[in-house]
Amino acid sequence: MAEELLLTASDKKGRYEEVLPQLVSVLEGETDRTANLANTAAILKEAFDFFWVGFYEVKSREGEAPQLVLAPFQGPLACTRIHYGRGVCGTAWAERRTLVVPDVDRFPGHIACSSLSRSEIVVPVFHPGTGEVVAVLDIDSRELSTFDETDRHYLEILSSHLSHLWA
Ligand code: SME
Repeated sequence: MAEELLLTASDKKGRYEEVLPQLVSVLEGETDRTANLANTAAILKEAFDFFWVGFYEVKSREGEAPQLVLAPFQGPLACTRIHYGRGVCGTAWAERRTLVVPDVDRFPGHIACSSLSRSEIVVPVFHPGTGEVVAVLDIDSRELSTFDETDRHYLEILSSHLSHLWA
C-alpha cells in the first residue's frame, strides 16, 4: 500500500477523483473493519481537512434497542451513542438515505457534539446481504453549506466499497 497520499487537485471533484482510488487500494489490502474505518477517516481528513470525520456503527446491547455507537474517527471528542431517529445520524439511519445539512442550526434535533460544527453530511452504509443500515459515515464542517451533490456522489460510492466489511 502507498504510505503517502498523492494530493494534487485543487477542486473538490478532482480531489475525490484522485483520493477514491487510493482509498480503495488501501481498503483492498486489509480485511479488518476497524483498521479500514480508521484509515478511511484519516484519509478523508487529510485530503479535505474536514473538521470531524468518522463512523458510527449500529450495535445492540442485550435487552436494549440498537443504537449508533462511536467508531473510528478523526477530530475532536464526540458523542458516543445516538438513538434511532435522533440527530442527523439517527435520522439518516431511520430514513436509509444520505442527509446533506447546509446549516445544522436549522436541522430539528441536530446533536451538537461541537458548537463549532456548522454543516454536515451523513451517509449510511448498508449490509451487502440484508440491506440493513450497519453504520453511518458522518462528516462535519466549520463552514456553512460545505457539502453538496459532489460529496454525496463520491461518499456514496465510498460507502458501497466499505459495505463488504460487514459481510
Ligand atoms: N451532529 C451529529 C452527531 C454526531 S457529531 O456531529 C460527530 C448528529 O446530529 O447526529
